[in-house]
Amino acid sequence: MSKYTYENFLSLIKSIKIELPRFEMPELRMQELAAPVPIVQGGMGVGISLSGLASAVARAGGVGLIAANGIGMIEPDYFKDGRAANIRALRKEIRKARAAGDGLIGVNIMVALNDFKELLETAVEEKVDMVVMGAGLPIKNIPVEEIRRQGVKVVPIVSSSRAADLIFKMWKRMYKDVPDAVVVEGPEAGGHLGVAEEEIHDEALKIEHVVPEVRAALAVYEEEFGKEIPVIAAGGIFTGEDIYRIMKLGASGVQMGTRFVATEECDADVRFKQAYVGAGREDIGIIKSPVGLPGRAIINGFLTKAAESRRTFKCPWQCLAGCQADKAHYCISLALNNARQGKLEQGFVFVGSNAWRVESIVPVKQLVDELEAGYMKALFADMKGILAGLIERIHELKKEYRRLETSAARLKKEYEAALTAKIRSVGNTGASALREEYRRVSARLTELQLNMTERVYDAFEILMKGTRA
Ligand SMILES: Cc1cc2nc3c(=O)[nH]c(=O)nc-3n(C[C@H](O)[C@H](O)[C@H](O)COP(=O)(O)O)c2cc1C
Repeated sequence: MSKYTYENFLSLIKSIKIELPRFEMPELRMQELAAPVPIVQGGMGVGISLSGLASAVARAGGVGLIAANGIGMIEPDYFKDGRAANIRALRKEIRKARAAGDGLIGVNIMVALNDFKELLETAVEEKVDMVVMGAGLPIKNIPVEEIRRQGVKVVPIVSSSRAADLIFKMWKRMYKDVPDAVVVEGPEAGGHLGVAEEEIHDEALKIEHVVPEVRAALAVYEEEFGKEIPVIAAGGIFTGEDIYRIMKLGASGVQMGTRFVATEECDADVRFKQAYVGAGREDIGIIKSPVGLPGRAIINGFLTKAAESRRTFKCPWQCLAGCQADKAHYCISLALNNARQGKLEQGFVFVGSNAWRVESIVPVKQLVDELEAGYMKALFADMKGILAGLIERIHELKKEYRRLETSAARLKKEYEAALTAKIRSVGNTGASALREEYRRVSARLTELQLNMTERVYDAFEILMKGTRA
């Protein structure tokens, strides 16, 4: 009898409030390691992504990368001993980023650096969450056993499935192991590009084509080594909608550079960031970098003058193995170091192809929230067709629920009145008939609530699946 109290009835009505499953971008997972937000902030060398930016991204749920190349330039003795300054600065920045809060912190190291091995060893000693390695294929001289002992993930950057396959094949042969994820960087990226100048506009090299190809190439290694190997897409990704689209093509996450430059936490001088805000589409061009690769930059007076002028610099030390320092008109590390400090007339700014779309400098958290909202919008828009039937059904159930709610309220009143008056006129049969009716309505309400909850969960499942298509 006590089951049919007014309180129980009220709580039944209240319980119709369905607790929705958490609905957000899928996490980026590499075995036991997971970033709640599938966004890696690309490593940006010569002091653009240091502990300030990397830790802010990590706190916002993504992966923050400290770029190792030229990092020693933030130390006073770089020109005396570049190697020592690089290692010291990298160690300091990793520790600073760790001290600044939780989240995943990695290091970006260019394979072409002369001190690649020492920088890699330093990152591993400091137990960063991952090392992301580009500008060359990370095959030789990788201390895989030590990397595994320290629990560091390895992520090569490639621009083709051929390069990915080669790295994995060689790792398997040499180390009986394979990397943990792959960044596929396309020709829209900022900084040095992994494709030749004449290939920049080649359709086949776009990430939309290469991501599915790399996924396919890695499937055999996933099978053989019993682990998922996520593909992370980079280059030209600007909005949450872009993230959704590329993830639908098989990426498990994205790496973004340009958007993170225009943040308050980015470690560059504000004039460097303002150059992004001020740049028009026509200001962005491709340069031939002294290191022998094409790069994308804002074309400024320094670059046009440097192309014509005679070489005047003294190479501090051969920091990049392949740098043609003797032929170069300028030292790229010195130029980038000037730009980092806001001295743009003595340097230049690397950018991604979409930098002209940057409108303002915002906090990292605001940018990540905006990207997440854009992703959700794209997801709903894409799934609307499939969801329509389910949403209709939930509406119908809700209508029926509302109808029953009214009759349950009426029954409750009648039942209470019957009990209070100790009804002679209605008698016990009347009270028990009311109780029976009330029981029936309550049961149907519970059923409806369950049904609605199930339908809502179905809808969310469809949405979440949409992300992993
Ligand atoms: C200013 C700047 C510096 C960069 N420096 C490096 C670097 O040192 N090493 C590297 O692997 N990638 C570098 N990149 C590439 C980024 O890590 C990232 O992959 C790329 O910018 C993604 O394209 P997006 O800028 O269109 O988002 C740089 C990019 C920019 C914009």
